[in-house]
Amino acid sequence: MSTTLTQVPLTEAELKLLQTLVYQECGMYFDERRAHFLRDRLQRRLRVCQMDSFYAYYRLLTSREGKQELTALLENLTVNETSFFRIRPQLDLFQKVILEETLKRKQERRDWALRIWSAGCSTGQEPYTLAMLVCDAMAYYYLRNPLPFEMPTPKPLIPPPWKVEILASDINYSALLAAQQGLYTEQQMDAVEYTTRLRYFDKVGDKYTIKPALKSLVQFDFHNLKAEFLPRGNDMIFCRNVMIYFDEAEQKRLIDKFHRCLQPEGYLFVGHAESLFGLTSKFHMIHQNNATVYQRIETAP
Ligand SMILES: C[S@@+](CC[C@H](N)C(=O)[O-])C[C@H]1O[C@@H](n2cnc3c(N)ncnc32)[C@H](O)[C@@H]1O
Repeated sequence: MSTTLTQVPLTEAELKLLQTLVYQECGMYFDERRAHFLRDRLQRRLRVCQMDSFYAYYRLLTSREGKQELTALLENLTVNETSFFRIRPQLDLFQKVILEETLKRKQERRDWALRIWSAGCSTGQEPYTLAMLVCDAMAYYYLRNPLPFEMPTPKPLIPPPWKVEILASDINYSALLAAQQGLYTEQQMDAVEYTTRLRYFDKVGDKYTIKPALKSLVQFDFHNLKAEFLPRGNDMIFCRNVMIYFDEAEQKRLIDKFHRCLQPEGYLFVGHAESLFGLTSKFHMIHQNNATVYQRIETAP
C-alpha cells in the first residue's frame, strides 16, 4: 500500500521569504540546485507543526514563540555528514608540519597553551580526531626533545605544563549532543586503526566510546557562525565542509571573522572542495603533499 503525503502548496514568494530567513539566521544559502532540499524539509516541518500554510509558518518562525521551531528547522537543514580522520593528507600536513612547527615555536617562547577550534564539528569525529593527532604528536615530539621538567607517571596524554584546549562548536544541538556523548558504531569507526582504538576508545557493547582523558580535551559549545562575535585566540581553526553551504558574501564575512579569531600567524583549514581563492587577501596558502592550509598574514601596525 503506498501512502502519498499531501503537499501544501508553496508559492515562489513564500519560498523566497523562507530562503531569506534561513540565510539571515545561519548563512546557509539554498540556490536553484538545492531549492528542492529546502522545499522538502519545509514540507516536513509544516506536517510536524500541523499547519496548512507556509505564510503562517513563516509568521511563526519570526515570532517570539517560534524560536524553538526555528531551531528545529535549521537542524533539519544542516548536512551533518562527517567521519574520523577525514581528508587524511590535510591531517598529515596539520600533524607533521604545522603542529610540529607550532610546538617548537611556542616552547621557545614558554607559551604552553594550544587552542584549536573545530567550527561546524557535527557529531564530534573531527574534534576527537584532532585531539588524537595532537596527543600522538606531543608524545612523539617529547620522545625526541624531552622536556626539562619532571614527568608524572603514568604519563598524561598532554605533558605538563602544556594546556591543550579543543573547542568544538555547531549550530545543530542534536549533533552537539551526540558529539558530547562520543559513542560510535563499528561503521563510524571504519577509518580508525586498531592501535588508535586501543589507545583512545573503550568498547561499550557493540559500540566504541571516547576515553575520558581524551574527551576532557574537547569542549563542546553552541556557536552560530553567522554571529558577529566568535571565539578568539585560536592557534588553528578547522572549518571544513561548512562554507560550502554559504554564498560568496557570507563566506567572505566568515573568513574575515576567522582572521580576527586567530592568533597572529595562526592557521585556517577548510574542506578540500573549499578555497579562499578570490575571497580574501588576509591569508596566504600553503600547499604541500596534496594538502592545503591557509596562514594569517600579519600586516605592519
Ligand atoms: C558537513 S558537516 C561538516 C563536519 C566536519 N567539519 C567535517 O568536515 O567532517 C557541516 C556542519 O556545519 C554545521 N553548520 C552549518 N551552518 C552552521 C552555522 N551557521 N554555524 C555553525 N555550524 C553550522 C552543520 O550543523 C554541520 O554539522
